[in-house]
Amino acid sequence: MKSYNYYRHLFQDTPKPFAFVDIDLFHRNVRDIISRAGSKKIRIASKSIRCNHLLKLLLNSSVQIQGLMCYSPREAVYLSKAGFDDLLVAYPAMNEADIDAVIQQTLLGKKIYLMTDHEQHLLKIHKRAQLHGISQPVCLDLDLSVEYPGLHFGVLRSRVNSKKSAKTYLNSLSKYPGVTLKGLMGYEAQIAGLGDSGSGNGLKNGLIRRLKKRAIPAVAKRRQVVYDQIKAAGHVLDFVNGGGTGSMESTRTEKCVTEIAVGSGFYSPTLFDHYDNFKHQPACAYGIEIVRKPNKYTYTCAGGGYPASGSPGADKAPSVYLPVGAKLTENEGAGEVQTPVSYKGPQELFLGDPIFLRHSKAGELCERFNELHLVSKGKIIDIVKTYRGEGHCFL
Ligand SMILES: Cc1ncc(COP(=O)(O)O)c(C=O)c1O
Repeated sequence: MKSYNYYRHLFQDTPKPFAFVDIDLFHRNVRDIISRAGSKKIRIASKSIRCNHLLKLLLNSSVQIQGLMCYSPREAVYLSKAGFDDLLVAYPAMNEADIDAVIQQTLLGKKIYLMTDHEQHLLKIHKRAQLHGISQPVCLDLDLSVEYPGLHFGVLRSRVNSKKSAKTYLNSLSKYPGVTLKGLMGYEAQIAGLGDSGSGNGLKNGLIRRLKKRAIPAVAKRRQVVYDQIKAAGHVLDFVNGGGTGSMESTRTEKCVTEIAVGSGFYSPTLFDHYDNFKHQPACAYGIEIVRKPNKYTYTCAGGGYPASGSPGADKAPSVYLPVGAKLTENEGAGEVQTPVSYKGPQELFLGDPIFLRHSKAGELCERFNELHLVSKGKIIDIVKTYRGEGHCFL
């Protein structure tokens, strides 16, 4: 971990608030993630990066990192026009204009896969693709959640979750020549996106680890069964995608998986601090300015309230990163116009100084900033645009 003074010195002339990526830590995360992937390729979950410059940096950093997992068809089209290729849209699209825009890129020879799990997805894409005289590549989203008594362990996404429902999907697929099945994706969110070593959570951590351990073989079995079914039906797939940052150790052991989706691990926000199987570096953070000192131990900063999406909870709030020991106050948290920070440590802090915070999720911080300051070896080496800075807001 770098010190408060390291970053304060670096950003002494930078107007606050600002967001930054420590490229030295980012590269360390890249190396660690590549080693965690074993022999599998890595597809970048772009929602967790939201910056073209860094997406390119990642793709150029290793041949093992190939392709992007996009979060909307409009984003995929934007990235395709910006020169990226091999774009998997991980969530279904029902808007005809969006589907048409993807088909236009397919017509130009670009590789974009649209996500499907329902006959209505297939019908919609088929109709638009037939109008343009092509068959659009699609991917099947296989649900990998597991049911325990009184607990749905996983997310609520695809309706294809068994051999039977996969058969129904494959049967409907044969009615629609305007779509071609080219990929299989299964996201085991309950393993990849659920921390299991949060501090002060001993009992809960133990339970989550046991539930994960039980789910891992069930996930692997279901993915293999459906993959075999797809193959037996004569489809030739370009990829079988699985996992996320938090599940690489189990996803990489599955024979049929060709690639693992990874995004969050590169910035490593606070939600990814609490996993038993890995520890990445806090590469992304933001700085806010101390503008008041209402009492001896409180430093009130301008702005700073960037909570994350998802079920509301303390884990979705930003966390004070530096100086070490500084904390948000219980009454106010991180707010729209001000964030009081309580600090009793040895670091001298003055009005005008920064306090550094980390977001709880990876890419959402980029919806708050037009630019990311890239720092390396004691210098600001570049200032690059986020999607927002390029004028885009996809979801
Ligand atoms: C389909 C899918 N795959 C993979 C991921 C994992 O991404 P990350 O590594 O950013 O957690 C996500 C995250 O939500 C996802 O929706």
